[in-house]
Amino acid sequence: MKDRRENWSSNFGFILAATGSAIGLGNLWKFPFITWKNDGGAFVLIYLICIIAVGLPIMMAELLVGRKTQKSAVGALREAIGPAWGWVGTWGVMAGFVILSYYAVVAGWSLFYLFQTLNWSFFGFPTQANMGGLFAGLAANGLLQTTLSGTFMLLTVAVVFFGVHGGIERTARLCLPALFVIMLLLLFSALSMEGSGEALNFIFRPNFSELDTAAILEALGHAFFTLSLGMGTMIVYGSYVARERSLVNAAGSIVILDTVIALIATIIMFSVIFTVPGMPEQVDGSSVGMLFISLPQLFYEVVPFGVVLAPAFYLLVALAALTSTISLLEVVVSYFIDQRKMERSRATLLSGACIYIFTFLSGLSFGAFPWLSNFELFDGKAGFFATMDHFASNWALPLGGLLITLGVGWFMPSSDTEAELVGSGSPGWFSHKAWLFAVRFIAPAAVAAILIAVIFFGKDFS
Ligand code: PHE
Repeated sequence: MKDRRENWSSNFGFILAATGSAIGLGNLWKFPFITWKNDGGAFVLIYLICIIAVGLPIMMAELLVGRKTQKSAVGALREAIGPAWGWVGTWGVMAGFVILSYYAVVAGWSLFYLFQTLNWSFFGFPTQANMGGLFAGLAANGLLQTTLSGTFMLLTVAVVFFGVHGGIERTARLCLPALFVIMLLLLFSALSMEGSGEALNFIFRPNFSELDTAAILEALGHAFFTLSLGMGTMIVYGSYVARERSLVNAAGSIVILDTVIALIATIIMFSVIFTVPGMPEQVDGSSVGMLFISLPQLFYEVVPFGVVLAPAFYLLVALAALTSTISLLEVVVSYFIDQRKMERSRATLLSGACIYIFTFLSGLSFGAFPWLSNFELFDGKAGFFATMDHFASNWALPLGGLLITLGVGWFMPSSDTEAELVGSGSPGWFSHKAWLFAVRFIAPAAVAAILIAVIFFGKDFS
């Protein structure tokens, strides 16, 4: 079976696909918003430390489990660590299912704003624009919500249908370079704006008096989400990597690219916001606010070349979301292919359809259907969408990540992990001992801290 497994066509293709999974709404939607909410500087520094001390070692751990076994999450953990660890893989598959179901809703909004901005760019931006009203209208329109998220699910299914090489890698090769180019154009435009100095200050000048413990834990939780860790995505992507490639280099590149893009996105958004007088006060606590309410208008009113950059930006959001949704679907599909011996085509259609049932419910939970919008399972998290997001970010990913790092660190022979990480060549800065220390002690302690905080103090990291 091993020789029949599909592989990435090149190391570059693999790095693009995995980076595509990492870069997504987490970078463009969540990170700028939580940086804003936590007053920048010190929070960004803590986030960077979490990425390096926890994210990078776990990224390597997941990739090596996949590459060693050439299997998807469940089979890989079972074979590499032990039979009981298959359950951790199953937990991951379920997390992928849940995350994709609600992620597709926000991804659908990016399509809406892509069409909307194209329309404005060609036919003019309305003088009396009411962006809050526009978004509220979209949110409460059940038919529109379910159509947009359904369209996004169809796109995702279409890519995964064509497999690792013909679907996922090809899409990443097209989307990621486009994403980088659009991002750079936007960055240049943003840096030329008046508010950019203040934005850079806000993001990079740490002020520790602003930082509370909740922010530290939020930074850690987000490190998992943004790097696609804790649910087996990187195990599955690692399982398509050929034996002779260095995983350490790959993990390093993915982590650096993901972080750079998150920072650039934040610089772009904050430069725009700081340029408009009164805007910083208006950007309130709502995470949707920044991306879908403040920005569209600002593109047409303050950003140089905004008519071109606005649709380009929402195209970027959609592409970034797509390379993430395909990785989420692939975790579920590869489970059916490897564990249930299903054909890829059947597995993809079946998983896509089942996940869409949940997407449908999430799409209706922004006001279209009162009960779905209002019920509260977790305190303060009203509605189906918020419940799913809370469950995935607060429970599923940290718990999965904790079990994976404990399993790889303590229950896998260190000769095995060394062979995977160092055997195929590793860069000079890498030390297997330091990695093992991070995976055994630092990462579990940090993740345990999140879970304890969630359980005992009810902290919210979604
Ligand atoms: N990393 C993606 C993002 O930042 C989300 C994601 C999480 C994708 C988990 C796959 C697995 O948007």
